[in-house]
Amino acid sequence: MKNLLAGALLLGLARAASAQVAAWGQCGGQGWTGETTCIPGWSQCLPGSATTTSASSPISSTSPGTISASIPRATLTEITNFGSNPTGVRVWIYVPQNLAPNPPIVVGIHWCTGTANAFYTATGYGSLADQKGFIVIYPQTPNSDGCWDVHSTETLTHNAGGDSLGIVSAVRWTITNVNANASKVFATGSGSGAMRTNVLIGAYPDVFAAGSAVAGVPFACFEGTSRWSSECSTGNLIKTPQEWGDRVRAAYPGYTGVRPKMQFWHGTADEILNYNNFGEEVKQWTNVSGVSTTPTNTVANYPLSGWTRYDYGPNVMGISAAGVTHDIAYQSNLILGWFGL
Ligand SMILES: *[C@@H]1O[C@H](CO)[C@@H](O)[C@H](O)[C@H]1NC(C)=O
Ligand SMILES: *[C@@H]1O[C@H](CO)[C@@H](O)[C@H](O)[C@H]1NC(C)=O
Repeated sequence: MKNLLAGALLLGLARAASAQVAAWGQCGGQGWTGETTCIPGWSQCLPGSATTTSASSPISSTSPGTISASIPRATLTEITNFGSNPTGVRVWIYVPQNLAPNPPIVVGIHWCTGTANAFYTATGYGSLADQKGFIVIYPQTPNSDGCWDVHSTETLTHNAGGDSLGIVSAVRWTITNVNANASKVFATGSGSGAMRTNVLIGAYPDVFAAGSAVAGVPFACFEGTSRWSSECSTGNLIKTPQEWGDRVRAAYPGYTGVRPKMQFWHGTADEILNYNNFGEEVKQWTNVSGVSTTPTNTVANYPLSGWTRYDYGPNVMGISAAGVTHDIAYQSNLILGWFGL
């Protein structure tokens, strides 16, 4: 990767103004000191790693990352050696042809027994990335049961390890190597991926700007020695807003920055993760955001008939889907809207 654009060709095509490098131009590489922003839509004008050592990047210099050649565009591609990955999470990336300059990152997380490819296919985020220019990262669980680790101390603690750290390392790698915008990193998933989204938003508030969890449970609801918590899944783990909020704050003690926006969706007839978890998520994320559990706005039949949207100020939103099971229809476009994409 480091040498990807060292000595990149200048083919004499029309140059953009100095603010952006033209198509085919060099915008990175070892020792490069020129412009680092490429015009949209030109895969050859991919910034090299030498351009991304700015102080604002949270990545450590010990995670250089490697890709077999360059990252192919508009192709689901596995990346490896992307930094600390103690549990061996596998990661696929989708970089659209029309990559936006300083692009956002959406982390799309599969359900239990799902795969990166299944989530890619089911959500349509690849073609949405083609339209909007963001990057998608699809992690895939290393666990034999196909579910994510959302229970261990490591995964529930900032920078402590578990599946959480592997995913965050892939995000940090992408910020550096694809010159993504560290302020526009988002997480979403369904089922086990929704639980994982809650965990990432709780443990890495500095990395994610927003999350959207479709049929999940609160941060640390599965906490304990076994991978599955029947107490939580059956809706019998009930805490106060302060207790749920305190558990999130304990994941990253001393963090005083802005908290991510959080959205969660849940069917009232969810037979896998009881609907009580919707109310527990309301308590948790309103407390973390410092707002009341009383909605500030309610929208009936949003976005589908019988579903109800509850706003808790601008940064917390719950959508309750009447009569819907765990197999709730995933709303890719609206979730991107929540992310501002
Ligand atoms: C990165 O995202 C932030 C937050 O939306 C925005 O203010 C900033 O301009 C973006 N940076 C670039 C270089 O586009
Ligand atoms: C939420 O947590 C804070 C601590 O930051 C606490 O002071 C507050 O009372 C809690 N709010 C509610 C509604 O429980």
